Amino acid sequence: HRKYPAFKPVGLTDRTWPDQVISEAPRWCSVDLRDGNQALIEPMSVNQKKQMFDLLVEVGFKEIEVGFPSASQPDFDFVRYLIEENRIPDDVTVQVLTQARPELIARTYEALKGVRRAIVHVYNSTSVVQREKVFKTDKAGIVDIAVRGAKEVKKHADLAPETEWVFQYSPESFTGTEVDFAAEVCSAVVNVWQPTKDKPCIINLPATVEMATPNVFADQIELFCRQVENREAIIISLHTHNDRGCGVAAAELGLMAGADRIEGTLLGNGERTGNMDIITMAMNMYSQGVDPKLDFSDMDKICTVSKACTQIEVHPRHPYAGDLVFTAFSGSHQDAIKKCLDLYQEGSFWEIAYLPIDPRDLGRTYQDVIRVNSQSGKGGVAYVLQSKFGFELPRWLQIEFSRVVQKEAETSGQEISPDRIWSLFQETYLSN
Ligand code: KIV
Ligand code: ZN
Repeated sequence: HRKYPAFKPVGLTDRTWPDQVISEAPRWCSVDLRDGNQALIEPMSVNQKKQMFDLLVEVGFKEIEVGFPSASQPDFDFVRYLIEENRIPDDVTVQVLTQARPELIARTYEALKGVRRAIVHVYNSTSVVQREKVFKTDKAGIVDIAVRGAKEVKKHADLAPETEWVFQYSPESFTGTEVDFAAEVCSAVVNVWQPTKDKPCIINLPATVEMATPNVFADQIELFCRQVENREAIIISLHTHNDRGCGVAAAELGLMAGADRIEGTLLGNGERTGNMDIITMAMNMYSQGVDPKLDFSDMDKICTVSKACTQIEVHPRHPYAGDLVFTAFSGSHQDAIKKCLDLYQEGSFWEIAYLPIDPRDLGRTYQDVIRVNSQSGKGGVAYVLQSKFGFELPRWLQIEFSRVVQKEAETSGQEISPDRIWSLFQETYLSN
């Protein structure tokens, strides 16, 4: 079975310009252990964090925000554990968050002592509301906080040259900030850090609160990229939340608008309505024939570990991950799926009606795909008999027997299991 889908573009062949398609994977950064964790009713224990970290590495993340060590002792201890126990693979870089305050930055570097490579992620809030109501300061005051933070970050890094440091700055509440002012603050930070094309810094633009339609966010990103100084020495990162339910769409459009990197979480855990869901965005790419460079081929394991760490159930209709997302109950869908599957040849383009990708690419099987209830028709019943019990029915019998199954489903109001379908078939046709 192929690991990567053959994709036959339909109606997309002339849409190859970069601002209208995503043609390669961005740099991904998981913030499950920080944004995801800080939003949990019960934050992860050290053991749960270890499990989550191992899962993220297995999925293929090369950048992982592992905590906010200056804000909590468990986060500090977890960072120390990763470093002291040598748990960070050579090709993985850990990232930690800190506010732009000298004592917190100092504590952050304490947590990172001895690390081979790390991203120090410093932030302060820049929006109109935060300026006026929370910090009660003007634009110059906000720039000052950011610049002092950036200098402090650089100062500590200069004192520990044995580590390879990468600097990241977030104008928190970017979506509520005038774009030209966000560009001004970030340019000031970039001027302190003096990145180069070979040694870039990261500017992370958060939709801390999703406030507008995704196209507006994309416009903000495009404009920011034009206005910020030294763009070629900056990795533009996006960090969208899902307040309007469009976190993935905003990240996708933001990427097409010029960003390079995406922060998010597995299954969208995170503050309030969550962070953008990396599984959905990565699998959207996969379904379009773009290698997402993340491996979700064991989706059941991902869901199990995620639930064990977050105590949050996966919604049965969660894109790509939910139990019901490759299941068809309705008769016409089942019929179409069956016809396409019958014609499908291993290794050819995946052209199956109603199934955007091959469920086997997520470690699921065809057998789970078709389920039967009172909405189902002959196609589903026939498929179950054929795939589970090796019984191929002629069309007239499909029609006749599906009425028997439908009657039972309507009377009970319940799903009819494959075993029950088989016993109904035996009772109806094979007894005596
Ligand atoms: O949502 C947000 O703004 C954040 C920042 C700290 C990056 O999580
Ligand atoms: Zn966030």
